[in-house]
Amino acid sequence: MNDGDNTLTLTAAGPGRRTVLAAGLAVSLAWAGVLAGCGNLFARKEAVSARTGTVLPSAITLPEPFAVRLPTVPVLKPVRRDADTDYYELAQKVATAEIIPGTRTAIWGYHGIFPGPTLEARSGRAAEVRVRNELPVPTSMHLHGGVVEPGSDGYPTDLVVPEGYAKRVDASMVRMHARAAGRGNAVHAHQPVPEAPDPGIWTLHEGEKTYKYAFGQRAATLWYHDHRMDFSAPQVWKGLAGSAIVRDAEEEALGLPAGDRELSLMVCDRSFDAEGQFLYPALDPELSDPAGVEPKYMDGVLGDVILVNGAPWPVKHVGTGRYRLRILNASNARPYNLELTGPDGQVPFTMIGSDGGLLPAPQRLESVPMSPGERFDVVVDFSRLSPGDEVVLGNTLGERNTGLVMKFLVDKAVDPGPAVPAVLSAGYEALERGKALQVRQFDFRLAPGDVWTINGQPFDPGALLASARLGTVELWRFTSDFNHPVHTHLAHFQVISRDGRRPGPADAGWKDTVNVTPYGVVEVLVRFTGFRGKYMLHCHNLEHEDMAMMANFTVV
Ligand code: C2O
Ligand code: CU
Repeated sequence: MNDGDNTLTLTAAGPGRRTVLAAGLAVSLAWAGVLAGCGNLFARKEAVSARTGTVLPSAITLPEPFAVRLPTVPVLKPVRRDADTDYYELAQKVATAEIIPGTRTAIWGYHGIFPGPTLEARSGRAAEVRVRNELPVPTSMHLHGGVVEPGSDGYPTDLVVPEGYAKRVDASMVRMHARAAGRGNAVHAHQPVPEAPDPGIWTLHEGEKTYKYAFGQRAATLWYHDHRMDFSAPQVWKGLAGSAIVRDAEEEALGLPAGDRELSLMVCDRSFDAEGQFLYPALDPELSDPAGVEPKYMDGVLGDVILVNGAPWPVKHVGTGRYRLRILNASNARPYNLELTGPDGQVPFTMIGSDGGLLPAPQRLESVPMSPGERFDVVVDFSRLSPGDEVVLGNTLGERNTGLVMKFLVDKAVDPGPAVPAVLSAGYEALERGKALQVRQFDFRLAPGDVWTINGQPFDPGALLASARLGTVELWRFTSDFNHPVHTHLAHFQVISRDGRRPGPADAGWKDTVNVTPYGVVEVLVRFTGFRGKYMLHCHNLEHEDMAMMANFTVV
């Protein structure tokens, strides 16, 4: 525990920690005591108040901040279009990228680039993406925030496997048998190895799979990333993540900053070895068996280099106008509290949208608290600044280098552009508590044996934690021991309370990911729309997710 930098590192418990964890529920009481001593840190009850995870130090000399330009991520072009659908092809490839200036880093990228190309969609127009897997490992692609049919949702055991892989039974598949049979997470030597992956659990597509996205939803900032069972964290870390944008007429009528005044910022942290390769504490570097990370990092892997669109602490040249920033936290485990500092002090954000699109009206935010998986759509006004001024985007939850994210350099006087309208989404429907048909509780907790669980259970693809009716609203209450960013597939929600009080401004709008702070309680109203079928909710700290903090629900 380090009071000085406002962060909480669980590994600070030192060598006795695994023993402490083995005591199970006693952990929560013990930590409750420690945390209670932290007074002001937890009294503030912000959406992101501390971090859960451990820093993996880079071996390479870290690059200078603000030395490289912010990369513009290319937009994926359709190979074909017809009356109602756009068709895309996307190959997952091994490639290299210059991330640290002067070195080449091996990546796994959609289209061979990191971030992957941006998928641009139009509300009401479907898309079909044919994904080819040219990597040495299985993959599953999930459109995060997408209202997607179950067969295209990127379920962790619905895999695109490399050619020839389907006949192999890998250890994670054996482990899944053990887990499904209630024998825990370990593979034991005496366990009979099944002849083939159990078709009741695994769906294997050899070489490629076509994902179908209806895009019946409103305009929003989404993203896509890998979701392979047990290995999402290392595979996203290697580069399997990209942005997706849904546009619609309601939003276009607002005159928000567009074109080169609309920036997508994918923020994530990484660490590098001495040669400039991604460093990650996987137990098996081949990502086959066993899954998981070195015990020290099971709380989450934190990098010490902050990347925006794949560049370390980049700089973006801007004019004296209004800019729209679609900010995505694509980090495995790191939360941020973003602040903008200009020559005359803090520059506020005007928040216009959340994970699920526009807010009813804009609101001012002094800082943007952002846990893994969340998106914030904000407008920043540089019009009171002058050419030559600098505005730094910082992270108050970071330390020295991770306290910086990027810099805006004002280099020209321009027309500021129209102000943000006072009404953004006239048809926005605020859900009411009384509408909820069911109340359910999901408790996110570390269980004995170092397994991250939901309601005491590690993920079992055959088990269901809830069944909701299509078209209805339920109240879901999330409780937690550490920081857990809770994400629901398919169904979006509105936060109605945080720790017994009204939620803060950053919790506003339609969301699909919400951080639950240590010993926090977050209540949300979830609406089930779009499709029936099996979906999941899980922690979006990707190390927790890989170590079983997922659960199924169905929509019937
Ligand atoms: Cu962004 Cu199930 O994940
Ligand atoms: Cu978690």
